[in-house]
Amino acid sequence: MKLILLGPPGAGKGTQAERISARYSIPHISTGDIFRENLKEGTELGLKAREYMDRGELVPDGLVIDIVRDRLEKPDCRDGFILDGFPRTVAQADALKDILAAMGIPLDHVLNIKVPRDVVVKRLTARRTCRSCGSIYHLIYDPPEEEGVCDDCGGELYRRDDDSEETVLARMDEYEEKTQPLIDYYRDEGLLRDINGSVEPGEVFEAIRTIIEA
Ligand code: AP5
Ligand code: MG
Ligand code: ZN
Repeated sequence: MKLILLGPPGAGKGTQAERISARYSIPHISTGDIFRENLKEGTELGLKAREYMDRGELVPDGLVIDIVRDRLEKPDCRDGFILDGFPRTVAQADALKDILAAMGIPLDHVLNIKVPRDVVVKRLTARRTCRSCGSIYHLIYDPPEEEGVCDDCGGELYRRDDDSEETVLARMDEYEEKTQPLIDYYRDEGLLRDINGSVEPGEVFEAIRTIIEA
C-alpha cells in the first residue's frame, strides 16, 4: 500500500496518516515532522528549514528530495508507506516518480483531502501537538483529557510556531500556488482520489478505507 496524502495545511493529513499507519502497519513519512525533529535536535538541516517554515514558505526542493529518497530506501517501506506533505511541488513529484521507478514500486493512490479555507484557519490556530510523540489534538474538536498533556504518552502539548493566523494564511497561499497543480498532475496519471475532509475524522477515515480496501 503506497499512498500519498495531498491537501492544504490543516486538511487533516497528519490526523489521517496516524490512523492509516496504525491500521495497516505502514510507516508514516511526514517531511514537516522530519524538519521539526531536526530543529529540535539543532541540526544544520533543521536550522535551514526553519527560516522557510517560520515564514510559511516551502523549503527548497533540494533540501527535501534527498531526505525522502533516503527514507523510502529503508527496508520498512518495502511493503508500503504513507507520504504526508510530500510531494509539494511538480519538481518533487517528478523526483518521486524517478525514485519509485528505480525501486520498482508503483504508487497505489493519491488521496486528495479537500477542505475550504475558512475551516483550515479554525483548525490550525487551535491545534496542539505532542512534543514527544507527535500526536495531534484540537482545543475544541479533539481536546486531550487533561489540558496540555498528551493522552497517548503524557508528553507536553505545544502550539506549532507556524500556526499563527498570519503564517497559516501564508502557508495557504504557498499551497495554492505550488502544490495545488499536483491535483491535475496525479489526476492525469489516474491516481487521484478526492476525499471530503470537512466531516469528522472518523468519517474521513472510513472514506479512505473504502478507497484503499476496494
Ligand atoms: P507540514 O508539517 O506538512 O504542515 P502542513 O502541510 O501545513 O499541514 P499541517 O501539518 O499543518 O496540517 P495537516 O493536514 O497535517 O492537519 P492535522 O492533521 O494536523 O509542513 C510544515 C512546513 O514544513 C511547510 O510549511 C514547509 O515550510 C515545510 N515542508 C514540509 N514538507 C515540505 C515539502 N515537501 N517541501 C517543502 N517544504 C516542506 O489537523 C489540523 C488540525 O485540525 C488538528 O488540530 C486536528 O486535530 C484537526 N482536525 C483534523 N481533522 C479534522 C476533522 N476532520 N474535523 C475537525 N478537526 C480536524
Ligand atoms: Mg501535518
Ligand atoms: Zn504524546
